[in-house]
Amino acid sequence: MLPQEIIRKKRNHQTLSDEEIKFFIQGVSQESISDCQIGALTMAIFLNGLNHRETVTLTKAMRDSGDVLDWSDLDGPVVDKHSTGGVGDKVSLMLAPILACCGVYVPMISGRGLGHTGGTLDKFDSIKGYNTAPSNELFKKTVKEVGCAIIGQTGNLAPADKRIYAIRDVCGTVESIPLITASILSKKLAAGLDCLVMDVKCGNGAFMETKKDSEALAELIVQTANAAGTKTTALLTDMNQVLGHNVGNALEMQEAVDYLKGIKQEKRLHEVTMSLCAELLVTAKRAKTLKEAEEKLTKVLSSGQALEKFQEMVSALGGPKDFVSKTEKYLPQAKIIRPIYAKEAGYVNKINTRAVGLALIGLKGGRTTPTQKLDYATGFKDFCQIGDYLDTKTPLAFVCAQDEASFAQAQAELRAAVKLSATEPTVKHKTILKRIK
Ligand code: URA
Repeated sequence: MLPQEIIRKKRNHQTLSDEEIKFFIQGVSQESISDCQIGALTMAIFLNGLNHRETVTLTKAMRDSGDVLDWSDLDGPVVDKHSTGGVGDKVSLMLAPILACCGVYVPMISGRGLGHTGGTLDKFDSIKGYNTAPSNELFKKTVKEVGCAIIGQTGNLAPADKRIYAIRDVCGTVESIPLITASILSKKLAAGLDCLVMDVKCGNGAFMETKKDSEALAELIVQTANAAGTKTTALLTDMNQVLGHNVGNALEMQEAVDYLKGIKQEKRLHEVTMSLCAELLVTAKRAKTLKEAEEKLTKVLSSGQALEKFQEMVSALGGPKDFVSKTEKYLPQAKIIRPIYAKEAGYVNKINTRAVGLALIGLKGGRTTPTQKLDYATGFKDFCQIGDYLDTKTPLAFVCAQDEASFAQAQAELRAAVKLSATEPTVKHKTILKRIK
């Protein structure tokens, strides 16, 4: 078989056989296929698409390009959640310990921030001592003994995706529904999951802005994952404003701990977290209905069990033993923490959520180069929400910055991102837009 013939076939709108797809992915892993051939095939797929069978075969071939984790020694189902990425999305931080209290195991392999969106891994890296790259033994031991562990992608998990993704990133082929599906699922399926729930974000802070595109992505992921043997459902959730109150790595970690303590549980963040957890408990047959699942989840959250579980995970992975009781002591704090106000009073009508994510990058809380070291302390606290009335006494947000120049820049960017109107907004954004089974 010749790689150029496979590329030619897809370029000419033909379908690829399973053998051709497997041959190509094997060549990607063994480096017998060059970067330009990967670039050419992914562009042909971007332009001409893949059918359902081709997408399933590509996903499985990428999954099998490295290790596939085995959890057969555990006495319960192995589950996980994946979000397509948003701004202020700290759901994973609470979801993993809440679920681990409900008889399921959560080995969560998370990623760094991508583009304007935040990454769970960066949030855990804000805890001094917490090891996001433990040995396989420590990862497995933590999942078995605690019930959950949130870590980064291990070296040999779906290595074909690592190579293809890096090439797509610089060849303009990221926003392809079949390629995103195969990329996300190859990593999730390599984690050896029984059940998965996808949080497909939709709106101006998501990669897929329209409901039509988000729905198409969610449907393809659900079909492909189920065909590959992992029971999967998806929720389409709103990303037209910051999720929760805080944006920024340590600030989001603080919000997650406050949420688990019951101090502050922002309504939309709570709805998304509970709904995703409930989906997984039903799929994993730990609850008969979503209502029964929510009752279980509320119990472990309000009793403080989920908070204890979070502490157990942090301790097991090398973090401070008293992290949840002394969170402020362990998380880094910015030099300047100051409220900012809108220039004129009015109702928050629209938020350019992508611009908020980019403003965090301006504060060095997100990356402009792949190897950049982050400033975990920076970001925004108590961010306003659509429908809030802002005046000279009600801040739009608090900016946490390390110097006056970056504070002023963030202030200008946030003022431009938040659009006010004289009357209350008429468009109401539902938090959960659709459930896809
Ligand atoms: N996240 C991934 O892991 N892969 C993609 O292609 C897009 C988002």
